[in-house]
Formats: sequence, C-alpha cells, structure tokens
Amino acid sequence: MKVLLATEKPFAAAAVGGIQKIIEKAGHELVRLEKYTDKSQLLEAVADVDAMIIRSDKVTAEVVQAAKQLKLVVRAGAGYDNVDLHACTERGIVVMNTPGQNANAVAELAIGLMIYMSRNCFNPGTGCELSGKRLGIIGFGNIGQLIARKAVALGMEVLVKTDEIKEKHNRWEHTFSYDKLYESCDFVSVNIPATPLTKGSIKYEFLTQMPKGGCLINTARKELVCEEGLMRALTDRPDLKFATDVAPSCIAELKEKFGNRVFATPKKMGAETAEANVHAGLAAAHQIVNFFEIGCVKFQVNK
Ligand code: 3PG
Repeated sequence: MKVLLATEKPFAAAAVGGIQKIIEKAGHELVRLEKYTDKSQLLEAVADVDAMIIRSDKVTAEVVQAAKQLKLVVRAGAGYDNVDLHACTERGIVVMNTPGQNANAVAELAIGLMIYMSRNCFNPGTGCELSGKRLGIIGFGNIGQLIARKAVALGMEVLVKTDEIKEKHNRWEHTFSYDKLYESCDFVSVNIPATPLTKGSIKYEFLTQMPKGGCLINTARKELVCEEGLMRALTDRPDLKFATDVAPSCIAELKEKFGNRVFATPKKMGAETAEANVHAGLAAAHQIVNFFEIGCVKFQVNK
C-alpha cells in the first residue's frame, strides 16, 4: 500500500524516521509531502495513495475526490475538524485520530500561558502567582485532565463541569453550570473540540462573569471563542486577559486595543514538541499498519 505523510507543518525528524520504519517494515511505501504551500500539491500527492497521515491539513471534499484509491485517513492528533467526515464516509473512507498522544504537550502549553499572562507577558511590573488561584476547565478529556493534575501540583484549585467528569470516584470540585464556573474562576481553560454546537460558545455573557483579573486560556480552536463577544468583554472589563494558541481573525485589532492583555502564538504550537510528534506520528503509523493487516478500526471517528 502507498501511504502519504502530508504535513504542511512538518513533524520532527525523529517522528518522520519512526513513521517510515513502521510503514516500510510492514511492507508498505511511504511518500512525504511536507511544508507544502499550495493545495494543488496536496491534490496531486493524494492521487494514488491508499492511506494518509495528516496534522491540521485540510482533507476537503475536493481532496477526497482527487484521492481515488484512498481508504484511510489518520489525523495524527486529537481534533479532526479539518477533515470533511461526510465526504469521507460517502466514499467509504475510514477516518481516525490518535487521541491523547499529544495531550501532554498541549497541557504544558496551557500552564505556560497561564504563567506568562500572570507575569505581564514577562514585562517588568508586579504579577501574580498561580498558587491559590482557581482554574475552571471546559472540556475534561485527555488534555483537560492533564491540565487539572498539573494545576493542582502548582497549588491551584480546579473546577470542572459535573457532566464532563467520567471518573467513577470523582475527586474534582465540580459545578452544574457554566455560569458558576466562569463566575468563580480566575482562569478558564478551553479544551473542547470545535463542532457546530461549540463554535462561538465562549461568549461575552460568560467572560464578563469572571472575577477581577480573570484570564481566558484557549489551546483548543479559535472558532470556539465568539470574537465579537471577546472584543466587547475586553473593552468593558479592562482587567480581563486572553491568551490563545492560535490567533483569532481579529488579533491585530485586539493587540492594538489591549496590548499585553492579549497574547496569541504566531502558529499553532500546542502539539509542537518532539515527544508529541513522535507519540502521535508513530501511533498513526501503527494504526495504518493494523488497519491493513487486521482491519482494526479502533480509533475510527466516522462510524
Ligand atoms: C490536535 O488537534 O491534535 C492539535 O490541535 C495539534 O494540531 P497540529 O498537529 O496541527 O499541531
């Protein structure tokens, strides 16, 4: 089988080498399209491949149409909002992700952003500590749970929405309402997938309930935050802050109006660690091998 590694934002060399070994050891061929700059390159590269590994690369209906032999897409990562599931399903193409494999990297970034924002973006002046502060976590999956554990180790209190806790013996402080969560948390970390239901759900009414000095941390998708509401909230509440991976469309205006109360990474970097690249990349390669060898569809997301 021919497997395409299509990564506009390439994996670390160790991950690429590992992927190649796994794919070739199983008797398949790996072709690489990395750092591509135009979708025409992707359309050309998918023409004769049986499977592909992607990151945030867009698998649109047009890509599916061009990929005549395609049977499997593995998103090496968690979020698969970049894949047209409907187009894949219609063609009988299996889509998988590699849940949890890059979660620690994202969780560490979320903690880093909290420290950065509470220390005035490392500018001179008195900041504050995380210890003793309360962190609300929206989305208690792999990333949310890792953030919670790290935050507790730093002396923070953690508050989670009750219906998001899957553990049998719950040890987390929890609340039934988002209102309560925003109202009582100094930091709110967003860790939910982008779906038609969640897009724009982080809105003015919630943000303005945060206590004085409140800070929103978004390491999920930019579409989750209602940009108009964010702009208004930061205007009406000169004490609020916002840090995000990656920048919303209105970032230039936000920076101009609010300066160091706003921070955005220049390119999505939550999963940009060698470890996360290796974990997610190798998991994707193994999933491809298992799919072709034994028909394993354990991480299929378009069932
Ligand atoms: C994910 O959904 O796994 C993260 O957002 C990482 O995306 P990336 O692989 O494009 O860095």
